[in-house]
Amino acid sequence: MTKNPKPLTKEYITSPFMIGTMRLGKWGCNMTSSEIEKFVEGCIENRLVDFDHADIYGSYTTESDFGSVLKIRPDLRNQIRITTKCGIKMVSENRPEQKIKSYDLTKKHIKKSVENSLITLQTEYIDTLLLHRPDFLFDPYDIADAFIELKREGKVNHFGVSNFSTYQFDLLHGIFPLISHQVEISLLHRKSFEDGVLNQCQKFGIKPQAWSPMGGGVLLKKSKDQSIIEIQKQISVLSEKYNAGADQVLLAWLKKHPSDIVPVLGTSKLSRIKSANDSLKIDITHEDWYLLWQTATGKEIA
Ligand SMILES: NC(=O)c1ccc[n+]([C@@H]2O[C@H](COP(=O)([O-])OP(=O)(O)OC[C@H]3O[C@@H](n4cnc5c(N)ncnc54)[C@H](OP(=O)(O)O)[C@@H]3O)[C@@H](O)[C@H]2O)c1
Repeated sequence: MTKNPKPLTKEYITSPFMIGTMRLGKWGCNMTSSEIEKFVEGCIENRLVDFDHADIYGSYTTESDFGSVLKIRPDLRNQIRITTKCGIKMVSENRPEQKIKSYDLTKKHIKKSVENSLITLQTEYIDTLLLHRPDFLFDPYDIADAFIELKREGKVNHFGVSNFSTYQFDLLHGIFPLISHQVEISLLHRKSFEDGVLNQCQKFGIKPQAWSPMGGGVLLKKSKDQSIIEIQKQISVLSEKYNAGADQVLLAWLKKHPSDIVPVLGTSKLSRIKSANDSLKIDITHEDWYLLWQTATGKEIA
């Protein structure tokens, strides 16, 4: 097996935030082509150029929605970077052959999925391909073969994973260099601070990506859940202290971690994209970081 020729560095992703596309189409606000076009332009104006897709978003329709914009505005393609994912097989009217939900990280499926994403996104290359979830049956050598071929064919530039354990990451990274690990991180999902995922990223010099950084919006919307209400109360105290919005406090909390977390923003509003950018000015104290941790866990640390 030949080696991947490109050295991989922490500098690969330069945007401090990625733009999630999961809710732009059928699974969210059903944007029209011209709304997507304006949204992409606005993100570029805010210097946020990394767009996060997956083949399954919108039940296999959101890549196409986005691709139809790139078709009429090919000039946008070179101004952005596209990440997409593969490996989850969903039950969908758009995939009638898939009878149950399953994971598939065989070389055959990875290559077929990329071919399809290239068509739906109307692009000649994908900047980064992520393996969406670990297939319990994955063979790292089979995956590495797929990656090497996709890179050689000029179809994908970089590769990463999502929702892997540290052991699974290590297994694949030891055979083929990965450039990112996307996991769920927010005040509601704190596992990666304790299970070694963030430390592993630091060890290998790659930036972790945080999906659902606002807890899918739960942390910002009116809630009847007492534990969410407590977190929101604490956030509003810190909002006042730092003269910042609740969303900005949540992002500053993620950005405090030295692994240089890249939150994948799920908003469809340009005003919130701008607000995210402005949050980079906030540097919350070590103690305030733990204050939010304590509120979210409901107990003092050991
Ligand atoms: N790798 C994986 O397994 C995986 C899984 C899930 C998601 N993802 C990626 O992560 C991205 C982000 O996930 P997410 O959408 O769950 O992220 P999120 O940012 O936690 O949640 C987005 C939701 O929060 C709402 N929201 C954001 N700011 C708000 C505010 N200030 N006030 C009220 N509501 C607010 C948004 O509504 P508005 O549009 O109205 O702002 C949207 O409905 C996805 O698009 C996808 O790319 C990856």
